[in-house]
Amino acid sequence: MRALTESVAWNNLQQHACAAKQQHLAALFAQDPQRFKRFSFQQGSLLLDLSKQRISIETVELLLQLAAQQELPARIEALFRGDIVNCSEQRPALHTALREPEGTVVRVDGKNIVPDIQRNLVRMKVLVDAIHSQQWRGYAGDAIDTIVCIGVGGSDLGPVMTCRALAEFAPEPAAHLKMHFVSSMDGSQLARELQKLIPERTLFIVASKSFSTIDTMANASTARAWLEKYTDAPVEVLLERHFIGISATAARMTEWGIHPEHQLEMWSWVGGRFSMWSAIGLPVALHIGYQGFLRLLEGAHQMDLHFRHSRLEQNLPVLLALTEIWNINFLGIHAHAILPYDGRLQHLPAYLEQLQMESNGKSTTRHNQSVSYRTCPVLWGEIGPNAQHAFYQLLHQGTEDVMCDFVVSARRYSHRKNDELRHQHHLAQANLLAQSRLLAFGDHALPPDAHTPAYKRYAGNQPSTTILLDQLTPETFGQLIALYEHKVFVQAMVWDINPFDQWGVEQGKVMATQLMPVLTDSSVALDAELDSSTANLVRAIRHEQKQENI
Ligand code: F6P
Repeated sequence: MRALTESVAWNNLQQHACAAKQQHLAALFAQDPQRFKRFSFQQGSLLLDLSKQRISIETVELLLQLAAQQELPARIEALFRGDIVNCSEQRPALHTALREPEGTVVRVDGKNIVPDIQRNLVRMKVLVDAIHSQQWRGYAGDAIDTIVCIGVGGSDLGPVMTCRALAEFAPEPAAHLKMHFVSSMDGSQLARELQKLIPERTLFIVASKSFSTIDTMANASTARAWLEKYTDAPVEVLLERHFIGISATAARMTEWGIHPEHQLEMWSWVGGRFSMWSAIGLPVALHIGYQGFLRLLEGAHQMDLHFRHSRLEQNLPVLLALTEIWNINFLGIHAHAILPYDGRLQHLPAYLEQLQMESNGKSTTRHNQSVSYRTCPVLWGEIGPNAQHAFYQLLHQGTEDVMCDFVVSARRYSHRKNDELRHQHHLAQANLLAQSRLLAFGDHALPPDAHTPAYKRYAGNQPSTTILLDQLTPETFGQLIALYEHKVFVQAMVWDINPFDQWGVEQGKVMATQLMPVLTDSSVALDAELDSSTANLVRAIRHEQKQENI
């Protein structure tokens, strides 16, 4: 098979890039008054503006040829159909099935999985109703008013992001619930919460696809020990009244002590970072209500339908993905900033870091060959206005090319009679528009002044995408996240990598397990093969620990 970089479509893009690299965004806009119309795309309540990307009509045509060459339409269909798209683990990746309405058929190994998904949703609803109606009681008969969600990675980032983003949609019955999220391995978040929590009224949700992730299991054990130390109530009662488990491995939940009726299922065909639509989303359903959770699924489903059925040239996830491929592989841009101009989207950057870097941070193709091109760039982000006071200096005047995603809603606070807050929203919007403009056009957007010293100049030409939601609702948020999920998939297909495995995170866990004994028992001899840095750091830790014990 011909390597991607030797293919006709790739070579055409490379040649095209030689000239395109010289072009400034200011010139591209000056040449084409229709640029916004040409390169902005509406789907449902979401507007994707790609006009501030360094693309032309020809660029898009060539990128679409690359997508066709990589058989993108067939691969999209294979994803939705439930083919084994995760080749290293021999699994489908069916997060889209989690958003399918009742009555749809999606088969895995010949079995329609949609009824199982619907049954699980009903079980989620039963739990949500019991907690909201205060029927769920702790061991001493008190109603639950505090939920502590324990998980990490995909079992944490999606729920925490969504709960924070959509908090204002919390229905009345959820108003009494306080939600806490605990993920850090060292126990610092949990320790802080445990000081304030009332055991009789606290419910822990332990979410882990594998139910073996050491970070999560350590936090869960600490929580369980905390309850056991607090009361003499039988441990079975504590486990039954104070823990819900969510996992793809029921046996491990049972072994840990989760009551069978309080176990929620997920499946091996849902990847961790794609799992917020499954039972992993229980905290979301508790926080914004079960109906709110269904609205979220519906929004994502609308994006699924668009992605599956639209032509490539009108397809938002495809166009977004290809534009970034242009930046990464042909313009040489290897940093990507995520900049929501909305405090509710505070956790979006962290979520997208995992979604994109764990999915596409790969250097081996699906056919086990090393790639000879760049894949996922380094991604980071922050609430945009806060980032303006932190790292925008580098974006404007540093030496790195960076592509940016700006995300904002058109309307906010409209249901409130609060002029001050509406003013603050306009302030955020004005800042977004100003920043994306200055990044794109630099000095070209400013009045000419020959005397401006170099340190006050702006080169511009930093490409950006703006995503405008009409307003932030469960539906539009579902659309937004599904847009990003599908973008990641498209990029992986073009790069011919598997976005659904994460072998790169495994070896570190094994090594940590091997190192544990030398830290917990000072009589254990250090491995003679250990490198001198690690060995001496262990010695330094042991020395400090010895001082502590004197
Ligand atoms: O170590 C990485 C990872 O496996 C992620 O892919 C996953 O989202 C996270 O750990 C948590 O895994 P689990 O849900 O099995 O606890």
